[in-house]
Amino acid sequence: MNKKNVMVVTGASSGVGRAISLYFSSRGYSVCALARSKDKLETLEKESKGNVRAYPVDVSNSEQVIKIFEKIVDDFSQIDVLINNAGIVKIGTYWEQSIEEIDQMVDVNLKGTMYCTHAALNLAMIPRRSGRIINMSSVAGIRTNSRATVYQASKHGQVGFGYSIAEALIPYNILVTTLCPGGIDTPLWKGDSIPDGIESEKFMKPDELSETIEFVLGRPVTTLFKQMMFFPTCDWN
Ligand SMILES: NC(=O)c1ccc[n+]([C@@H]2O[C@H](COP(=O)([O-])OP(=O)(O)OC[C@H]3O[C@@H](n4cnc5c(N)ncnc54)[C@H](OP(=O)(O)O)[C@@H]3O)[C@@H](O)[C@H]2O)c1
Repeated sequence: MNKKNVMVVTGASSGVGRAISLYFSSRGYSVCALARSKDKLETLEKESKGNVRAYPVDVSNSEQVIKIFEKIVDDFSQIDVLINNAGIVKIGTYWEQSIEEIDQMVDVNLKGTMYCTHAALNLAMIPRRSGRIINMSSVAGIRTNSRATVYQASKHGQVGFGYSIAEALIPYNILVTTLCPGGIDTPLWKGDSIPDGIESEKFMKPDELSETIEFVLGRPVTTLFKQMMFFPTCDWN
């Protein structure tokens, strides 16, 4: 594996994270692919012809996160880009959802983002005074509706975290961008709690996100893209 720019992608076993991993590995990045599904990460590793390396981890487990980031830094010495993309959604009326579902969404979407950012900053980016972090929030991190309260709360948290940490990291040459996309055509829309009738094939394609990230990463450090919101143009409000 070439030691070029090193990108860590969470939620790399499926959907957006998988697409980002393949896109950037084919453009010269060494991609560290994080998710729980070891088998899916190994398939991705093979598909990438050696430019993606699998790091199985549960991002909601802080001890696992520290260990896996230590391993990445041992393997590559640096992390240039962190994409906090791992996420889960369970749709439902708030008070009918279980405490376990509430914990899972907050733990993966918000705390997972914070754990991975903490590890990447301390082990790699702050010491080198350089880095880029992209947080995959959602339009649900800005708008609300009554069927996805906890998901939206976790995504609002990601936006707030991203805003705050972006300010703090400017003096360290580390730029943080929070993306707030609308519907993307991924397996997320096939989850147990997703209502029937959603035509996700009309949504944005995962590689549109890869292209947006490539644009952001290509900007000079003199410009901070703090937040970007974008939607599919089909029947979306
Ligand atoms: N699809 C959309 O319309 C849409 C719109 C706006 C924002 N987003 C956001 O985009 C991100 C990616 O979503 P997607 O649509 O690509 O969904 P997806 O296809 O369901 O992929 C979700 C990814 O998150 C990983 N993940 C879940 N729990 C994890 C955990 N505890 N530890 C590590 N990895 C975990 C999954 O891997 P494992 O199961 O293998 O762990 C999987 O790789 C999410 O943050 C989502 O909220 C999606």
